[in-house]
Amino acid sequence: MALLPILEFPDPRLRTKAATVEAAQVTTPEFQKLLDDMFETMYDAPGIGLTASQVDQHLRFMVIDVSEGKDAPMVFINPEITARDGDQGLQEGCLSVPGIFADVTRSNRITVRYLDRDAREQELTTDSLLAVCIQHEMDHLEGKLFVDYLSPLKREMVRKKLSKQRKHAA
Ligand code: NI
Repeated sequence: MALLPILEFPDPRLRTKAATVEAAQVTTPEFQKLLDDMFETMYDAPGIGLTASQVDQHLRFMVIDVSEGKDAPMVFINPEITARDGDQGLQEGCLSVPGIFADVTRSNRITVRYLDRDAREQELTTDSLLAVCIQHEMDHLEGKLFVDYLSPLKREMVRKKLSKQRKHAA
C-alpha cells in the first residue's frame, strides 16, 4: 500500500466534478488498490473520511471510518441521498483544509444508496456523525468544500492561514 498526496484548499483541482464509477471497474485490482491506499492515507492523516477527489482521482466514491477503534471501514461508490430529515450542526474539519474547523448545518438523518467495494448495491439510513461525514464527502464529489459554507471574509482568512502554515512547513 502507499500513502497518497492529499490536495489542499485552494487547489483548483478540488473543484472538479467527479465522474460516475463503472460497476465493472470496482472489482479490478487497480480500483481495489486505490481503495486500500485511500484507507491507509486517511488513517495516517488521521481523518474519518476521504474522497477520490482529494487524491486527484475524480471519480464518485469515498472511504469512511467513524469508529473509535478505526476498525469499521466503509466504502461508498456512486452515493445518492434518497431521503433526508431534520437538521444538525456539527463542527467539521477536512484533510484538504488542515487545522481549520467550523460549524456546518446538514441534514440530521439521511438514506443513501451506493455500491460497496464488491460492487453490490446497498442502502443505509443513518444519522449523527456518519450522516454528516457522508454529506461532507459527497460535497467533495461536486467540487464543494465545507469552507464554502463560511462567509467570503472567513474563507479568505482560512486561505491566508493555510498559506502561512505552508510557508512555515517549507
Ligand atoms: Ni473533506
